[in-house]
Amino acid sequence: MGFSTLVLAAGAGTRMHSKKPKVAHEILGKPLLRWVIDTAKAAGSDEVFTVLGHGRKSTIPLASDTTVVFQDQQLGTGHALMMAEDALVAAGVSTLVVLSGDTPLLRKETVQALVNQHLTQDAAVSLLTMCVDDPTGYGRIVRNHQQDFLNIVEHKDASTEELAINEVNSGVYCFDTANLFGILGKLQTNNKQGEYYLTDVAALTLAQGGRVVALCAQDASELAGINDRLQLSQASAQAQQRINTAHLLKGVSMTDPSNVWIGPDVELSSDVEVLPLTMLSGTTTVGCGTILGPMTRISNSTIGADCVIDESILIDVAVEDQVSVGPRAYLRPGTVMRTGSRAGTNVEIKNSDIGVDSKVPHLSYIGDAELGEGVNIGAGSITCNYDGADKHVTIIGSGSFVGSDTMLVAPVEIGEDVVTGAGSVITKNVPSGALALTRPEQVIRENWKRKRDEAHD
Ligand code: UD1
Ligand code: MG
Repeated sequence: MGFSTLVLAAGAGTRMHSKKPKVAHEILGKPLLRWVIDTAKAAGSDEVFTVLGHGRKSTIPLASDTTVVFQDQQLGTGHALMMAEDALVAAGVSTLVVLSGDTPLLRKETVQALVNQHLTQDAAVSLLTMCVDDPTGYGRIVRNHQQDFLNIVEHKDASTEELAINEVNSGVYCFDTANLFGILGKLQTNNKQGEYYLTDVAALTLAQGGRVVALCAQDASELAGINDRLQLSQASAQAQQRINTAHLLKGVSMTDPSNVWIGPDVELSSDVEVLPLTMLSGTTTVGCGTILGPMTRISNSTIGADCVIDESILIDVAVEDQVSVGPRAYLRPGTVMRTGSRAGTNVEIKNSDIGVDSKVPHLSYIGDAELGEGVNIGAGSITCNYDGADKHVTIIGSGSFVGSDTMLVAPVEIGEDVVTGAGSVITKNVPSGALALTRPEQVIRENWKRKRDEAHD
């Protein structure tokens, strides 16, 4: 098919009333701009170009896998194309799809259909339009009595008659670049916003005898442009519904899909059950038969099969099969939970490897530690991994039993089959098979309370 894509994302998004540029705002944990770039790639673009300008510090990282063009002053969507012309010419692009960074719900199939139509109809300009109940803010599609496309009139420039038109411009285009670059120089700023409108390219092409195809999309919902936070929340709800529906139809259970939020890049196997108030984001994958939630947040993590993750937070972790997590566990980056292991109630684990069948059942902090197989960590135990300047490692050998409330002062190494006495502060390495105990002898003073009370009388 052979096309490249240009994503327009230089605008400030003033209607968001935000310090953050509009396209850096997120839907289901993924920035708007990433939704659009990923769609452009999935649709089969040879190359993706991105026009950035406002708030580039936060937008550049989002477009790192594209060719970035800067538009220092945002003089309109037509001006954005002018700024990209050199890069597009240098790359030899002849068919160019243009997308807005603020239209995240667009599907790849829609882009492919537009390009197909554009090429088979030998059009100079193709654009997707949509019919909406409330056209406020959108450019109106003006047609003649024969329904031929004539022009796009921006909301702010529209007459009362034109304002009543409910077929609007979606901001999704396909251009023949030879025609486009010939016309960009003719764009004027004699409109209400004093901007170079990309939309004017359509009428100018017609005036030159070029072919313009304005296709009305069946499903307007995927073309919704986000200009304010109300639209952001509406698009979020729509993305949530689209994604959850797809998972439900592929064998994932959700008792209440309206209270489950799953990012677009999350992969769930069949027989996964997602309970209410659960958010899954980033590149999370979950294996067969695992139950997530209620009230669980997982991002960028790999979860195996037949696990139970209850009321917990997992960020950048790897969980193997038959692992039990929670309620209220916090697994931080670098944590690996091996098969059959457990992180229980009010447990925090960071950058640690919890071996096969090892258990950290209650009220513990495990950081920068390596646990062998079948280790048991008693309630309230802590790896004291930080000395105020550096982080240190704790190693606990297979089969060891760490008594409740043990402080393991790192760096420290516990051998295999070690037992530590409850309440011990372990500062030195312990050889395999030993008992380690740091405990002052218990003092008993018989009848102490009665004697004290008598002394006070
Ligand atoms: C634009 C269209 C309108 C269409 C609507 C669909 C124009 C003139 N109008 O209006 O017909 O109905 O999208 O959502 O194109 N941008 C730049 N540089 C600029 C200006 C904008 O890169 O100088 C980017 C923005 O970051 C945004 C996109 O272009 O991602 C569209 O800009 P926006 O200001 O949202 O245009 P709309 O008013 O929505
Ligand atoms: Mg917009």
